[in-house]
Amino acid sequence: MDAATLPRPAAAGAPPRAGVVPAVELLSAEKVFANGVRGLDPIQLRVAGGEFVSLIGPSGCGKSTLLKLVAKLIEPSDGRILWWRGGFEGVGQPGRRLAFVFQDPTLMPWSRVSTNVRLPLDFVGTPRAEAKQRVEAALAQVELGPYARHFPRQLSGGMRMRVSIARAMVTEPDLLLMDEPFGALDEFSRNRLDEDLARLSWERGLTTIFVTHSIYEAVFLSSRIVVMAAHPGRIFGEFRVDEPMPRTAEFRSSDRFAQACRDLSAMLSDAALASRRTA
Ligand SMILES: Nc1ncnc2c1ncn2[C@@H]1O[C@H](COP(=O)(O)OP(=O)(O)OP(=O)(O)O)[C@@H](O)[C@H]1O
Ligand SMILES: [Mg+2]
Repeated sequence: MDAATLPRPAAAGAPPRAGVVPAVELLSAEKVFANGVRGLDPIQLRVAGGEFVSLIGPSGCGKSTLLKLVAKLIEPSDGRILWWRGGFEGVGQPGRRLAFVFQDPTLMPWSRVSTNVRLPLDFVGTPRAEAKQRVEAALAQVELGPYARHFPRQLSGGMRMRVSIARAMVTEPDLLLMDEPFGALDEFSRNRLDEDLARLSWERGLTTIFVTHSIYEAVFLSSRIVVMAAHPGRIFGEFRVDEPMPRTAEFRSSDRFAQACRDLSAMLSDAALASRRTA
């Protein structure tokens, strides 16, 4: 289909229409690092607007490298990456509508929660009154409204991660990249944040690429899971989770969830085996 004839993406706030409009596309994008290490073999991956795609695979298979390529934090050694921003006029640059959440919340310890969340708006000179309003809205979304004047050290690990998510949301991204954001949290906090993220990404019509080592987390959150293998990093297979969005805690206790986890686990074992064979 011609790019110009593709329908436009859902408006912010509307339920996402997965599979409709591409948000980002890797066209044989590969990465060989300066020291000669082959981080990623050529990757062919199209993520559509409103999709929630997880990357899962053994350590060293290039998940973070792939995410950094999409964020333009690093350049591909060969191949291309295309970004669409709310239409086709912005193809080619990731722009400001992309947010990256790392495993560590990376907050400024000397600044209050609200100042931390406001940081990306300060960078682009958002007027003070508007910034204040957006920070309040972002904190309310992650249920941290009452903690705006706290310092990071006064919060739990899960709450600090919520601040980090609010800081990503305040920029009103349409593409959210998350690299093992909840990996350091206990299972209860992680489950809760997963539920919040499922709701937020649905409400905001976000396109999300999410890196995780957890089969349960990947199945709970994703519309599609990309299973990767290592030595060299590459896509091993894909796994769809055809369940209505937004997912809620009930999904976790369903037989369908258990079955999907078993199936994904089997594919992941095969990917691990393939990685060892080529190590
Ligand atoms: N800056 C770099 N310079 C050289 N090699 C690198 C660099 N960054 C990553 N690599 C190598 O590229 C490969 C992929 O690394 P990457 O960090 O993307 O893996 P990953 O799947 O995110 O692993 P993990 O699950 O442990 O986070 C690894 O072999 C790694 O050692
Ligand atoms: Mg990584």
